[in-house]
Amino acid sequence: MATINDNYLKLKAGYLFPEIARRVNAFAEANPDAKIIRLGIGDVTEPLPEACRTAMIKAVEEMGDRNTFKGYGPEQGYAWLREKIAANDFHARGCEVDASEIFISDGSKCDTGNILDIFGDNNIIAVTDPVYPVYVDTNVMAGHTGDASEKGEFAGLIYLPITAENNFTASLPSEKVDLIYLCFPNNPTGAVATKEHLKAWVDYAKANNAIIFYDAAYEAFITESNIPHSIYEIEGARDCAIEFRSFSKTAGFTGTRCAFTVVPKTLTAKAADGSDVELWKLWNRRQSTKFNGVSYVVQKGAEAVYSEAGKAQVKALVSFYLENARIIREQLTSAGIAVYGGVNAPYVWLKTPNNLSSWDFFDKLLQNCNVVGTPGSGFGAAGEGYFRISAFNSRENVEEAMKRITEKFKV
Ligand code: MLT
Repeated sequence: MATINDNYLKLKAGYLFPEIARRVNAFAEANPDAKIIRLGIGDVTEPLPEACRTAMIKAVEEMGDRNTFKGYGPEQGYAWLREKIAANDFHARGCEVDASEIFISDGSKCDTGNILDIFGDNNIIAVTDPVYPVYVDTNVMAGHTGDASEKGEFAGLIYLPITAENNFTASLPSEKVDLIYLCFPNNPTGAVATKEHLKAWVDYAKANNAIIFYDAAYEAFITESNIPHSIYEIEGARDCAIEFRSFSKTAGFTGTRCAFTVVPKTLTAKAADGSDVELWKLWNRRQSTKFNGVSYVVQKGAEAVYSEAGKAQVKALVSFYLENARIIREQLTSAGIAVYGGVNAPYVWLKTPNNLSSWDFFDKLLQNCNVVGTPGSGFGAAGEGYFRISAFNSRENVEEAMKRITEKFKV
């Protein structure tokens, strides 16, 4: 008799974003004339940069000629892309990352889940609260937790609250943990970490033989000059951190799919017999076995991000969304709503007006304004009473959404 992975039964019914989509679709069906504006899931709306498109078109032509046709590529990604990433994203910021330590993939969401394949089942795991739900759900699926409480907290995980009081940057755990998920610029709160804050984490991780999973998918949105873009800007991070990066939000690749993960060769963790094992070797083995790489065409598109034209176009794209974020911040503030984030991130995190619960505000916003956002409680118990607005949309839609919200929710 076939059996299932019972851990899946511990999960809440739906992953947050499909659940939102389900509610929005039901509303749209019942209200076919409503002009719904979607500022929920952080999905880009603006076209791919021209430099990326041109490179991809050329790559498609190469695939049509038997002299330049490509079959399977390296599972780790093509060296020419890994070298550009090492030079532009790391060496240019003084970080020591070798091209061979960079693994090209089809997304940070997949990588932050898949990375658990190479770790044991008895690690003590810390996540912030609120948090990007993938970190929690993939640990639940892997059997690393007990059941969820009423509040939605899973037994066995260490939750580190991030609130306005601590500038949405978690304090170090009071106990010893083995794996720590950090995301900066933060999804969902839009907060960033200073060098001092990250250094405290690196020092903690080194002192406790812990590994930090550092999700820097929104790094391109950092506008303040003193904020680190990579954890490898912090001394010692090569000995305790894996970093996840993505072209999704940087260059509009959510539908195109390309990302990368850095696993330094200096990084080790313990085997059952107490010996130190290089994580790079395990991740390389995992990827060569379970993954066949990102398509040549897409990697060519990603490479173009690092051309002079590509850099300028990506900068313009990021600035466009940041201007949306500024408009959202300003408009909501003028309506008397407390807002956070949105300066170094494409997300604005707000306190729900009139102390509404996150889902009540979601429903009111959808019904009264036909605007979709993301309930803070969907990111964790400490997100209750908060709400996330994404800056990924057209200028026209953002302005219209803000007009509708400020009219209805002036406090
Ligand atoms: C979000 O809205 O949080 C993101 O789109 C999720 C993701 O990147 O997977």
